[in-house]
Amino acid sequence: MKKVEIFDTPEELSRRAAQLFAEASRRAIGERGHFTAALAGGSTPKGLYKILADENDEFRAGVGWKKVFIFFGDERNVPPNDEQSNYKMAHEVFLSNVPLPRQNIFRIKGELSAKDAAEDYSKTIRRFFKLDDDELPRFDLILLGLGDDAHTASIFPHTSAAENPQDIAAAVNVRKLQTERVTLTAKTINQAREILFLVSGEAKASALKNVLEGEFQPEEFPAQLIKPTDGELIWLTERGAASLLD
Ligand code: 6PG
Repeated sequence: MKKVEIFDTPEELSRRAAQLFAEASRRAIGERGHFTAALAGGSTPKGLYKILADENDEFRAGVGWKKVFIFFGDERNVPPNDEQSNYKMAHEVFLSNVPLPRQNIFRIKGELSAKDAAEDYSKTIRRFFKLDDDELPRFDLILLGLGDDAHTASIFPHTSAAENPQDIAAAVNVRKLQTERVTLTAKTINQAREILFLVSGEAKASALKNVLEGEFQPEEFPAQLIKPTDGELIWLTERGAASLLD
């Protein structure tokens, strides 16, 4: 099931995301004793991460942090202290400000080659979720952004969108950025119980329209690959990003 919510400001979008994060964590911890979430990189999620890091925030207070396990949707091929690192951003803004045990954070080792990092991350996830070789993990929550080229995580247009079902995570060569990335595959993302897109800014308007209302062309608009097999998909959008939607 897909839902689109439109907010007047990025702040309102971030507050709603924090509420959904807290609700998902309460549900997961109540039902299964722990909460697994994969974080998005880029800049849009920073608003959400700042709210969850604010010790006076009501949503932050509602999260059982000791039972939260943090993963990443994708990572750049850089070391964890590099300005480009999604881990570095999340750690500085969010993870270093919540009472989350260090061993509950599973970063993608961007300092390795993309291929080795993808294999290492897939193995780590398989071990954590106690998966057989052909099983995929079911995250409780996956946060995603949307690029102005309709990429999500690091599933970019005209790349091997890493559809190989055996791959939990894959190395992707992003020619247009002249760089390698590591990303959860769309197949893995689609196993999640809840997928939240956070999309803000006029620059995303045409990508969002193409993804939500355009023809199904996943090579052009990779975010169209994101369709949960048995979960909820919620698009949290800011008014500028949603300005072209019917
Ligand atoms: C990354 C993200 C990427 C991001 C989009 C949107 O590694 O950059 O995973 O998929 O979510 O590019 O980025 P902004 O939120 O900065 O617009």
